[in-house]
Amino acid sequence: MTASTAPGKVYLFGEHAVVYGEPAVPCAIGLRARVTVERRADGLRVQAGDLSLDGFAVEYGATDTTPEVDVSPSLLEAAMSYVNEAVTQAREAAAERGVEAARAAGFEVTVDSEIPLGAGLGSSAAVVVATIDAATRELGVELPREEVADRAYRVERSVQNGEASRADTFCATMGGVVRVEGESCRTLGTPDLPLVVGYDGGAGDTGALVAQVRELRETYPFVGDTVSAIGDVVRRGETALAADDRETLGELMNINHGLLAAVGVSARSLDAMVWAARDAGARGAKLTGAGGGGCIVALGDPDELERALAYVPGCEDAFHAELDTDGLRREER
Ligand code: PMV
Repeated sequence: MTASTAPGKVYLFGEHAVVYGEPAVPCAIGLRARVTVERRADGLRVQAGDLSLDGFAVEYGATDTTPEVDVSPSLLEAAMSYVNEAVTQAREAAAERGVEAARAAGFEVTVDSEIPLGAGLGSSAAVVVATIDAATRELGVELPREEVADRAYRVERSVQNGEASRADTFCATMGGVVRVEGESCRTLGTPDLPLVVGYDGGAGDTGALVAQVRELRETYPFVGDTVSAIGDVVRRGETALAADDRETLGELMNINHGLLAAVGVSARSLDAMVWAARDAGARGAKLTGAGGGGCIVALGDPDELERALAYVPGCEDAFHAELDTDGLRREER
């Protein structure tokens, strides 16, 4: 039996625009998904203890492919597709290294995640990264981190109909603050910023929101300028990060939120949390991830911001998001 964990993330800058080749800067935070993998004769059985679902078990095998669980079929299908594809990548990686039984290997996969599902905190990337790593090690192969990140990206791209960037999966694998632009990914040495996350208890459908931005861009070609402006925010943000210039960072987060709202991916609950954080003295605040619902991230005094967010009617949870610098961790069982 093997176990791996990987962190969730917030976007300091650049979500959505990253899909069009602009840079993005996500930052790993101290919430983790833990995946335990054990060999079994054949097929794939997945158990999830805490995916913001009530908990479910699904068996994929020769005879049983229909889960009998009481959760939304689309949410379940999405969660299962990520694990299923991650296991396929693990089998392939081990088979390429000469592990003969890899392609037919059966697995029992248990997922325990602290990261709310679909809330913009990179839950799927963390689960995929940890699953690929634990399943390959269960087959006796230890992959370089870069390969785990690359295979995890392929999983996201396939499950999200070709619409994914390398940002979430690279960040979950490497930890810390990273920069992603197209195929190019690297870690940034940056200060530990005081970040607070506000969560409205909801979820956005990443695939649908990405498609919505694409449609808007096709209908109104000048929306392309908004997407490029997000890229400019990110490039300026990198300089501010390197200088630990928090005032500029905050201002740029505010601009980034406005641009995301302009392309239609904010929500009333997200705007309410963003404004509550700003009113409480945040240097900046923005939605994080795909939007539509889920989380915001604010830069400022964690106690003040948590307290202020707790009073927002639509805010279900607010917490200090500490930077995670480990990324993927190979755990003792
Ligand atoms: O909400 P999340 O954590 O799935 O982040 C989505 C980020 C997007 O830029 C909208 C899509 C992507 O794959 O980069």
